[in-house]
Amino acid sequence: MTIKISPSILSADFGDLNKEISEIENAVDWIHVDVMDGHFVPNITIGAPVVKCLKSTKPLDCHLMIENPEKYVPDFIKAGASYISTHIECGEDSVRNCIKLCSEAGVKSGVVINPPTAVEAIFPVLSEVDFVLVMSVNPGFGGQSFMPEVLDKVKVIKEKYPNLEVQIDGGINKETAKLAIAAGVDNMVAGSYIFGAEDRVAAIESLKNT
Ligand code: DX5
Ligand code: ZN
Repeated sequence: MTIKISPSILSADFGDLNKEISEIENAVDWIHVDVMDGHFVPNITIGAPVVKCLKSTKPLDCHLMIENPEKYVPDFIKAGASYISTHIECGEDSVRNCIKLCSEAGVKSGVVINPPTAVEAIFPVLSEVDFVLVMSVNPGFGGQSFMPEVLDKVKVIKEKYPNLEVQIDGGINKETAKLAIAAGVDNMVAGSYIFGAEDRVAAIESLKNT
């Protein structure tokens, strides 16, 4: 499977998101949108009204770092999300409710796991999700350093479900991408590495050709 690239617009210019997206969308697979509420993580970003205004030829991948995600999933579905991922740290019931809401609407769902959480926590929902997002930093901010120890989780998930898409998020650059790909990752989120680059398309290509 060729590796998918999902640029995180967290590191883009929030005042000009559609222009930022239009400049890179031909080179990528999904557009990663980090939704933070200041409770689940210590930072606030954007909500469904902004997602509704995003224009892209590529699917919007909404990573919900919020409490009570099931309360807001319908808004993100209406706003045009194609993929919605929610954290196991919100509870298994909460993730299950989100999966159900997504599948009823024909939207793909993912479960996310933070670095301190044991991989076993996601086992009960793995047969129900379309993808898994393994966090390689503690969520909340862009520009943090990659935590290589999470790669063991990727290997365990791939052993159990070889065909399940595994995405990784946090600290991805040309060097850490190599480690992620070697561990079996299918889809890489990258924010600061892409949007902080002088030549963003070249940065994207460097992740694919490691
Ligand atoms: C972190 C977010 C990431 C973040 C990644 O909480 O989920 O998507 O934007 O940023 P970089 O690639 O800079 O680590
Ligand atoms: Zn993210």
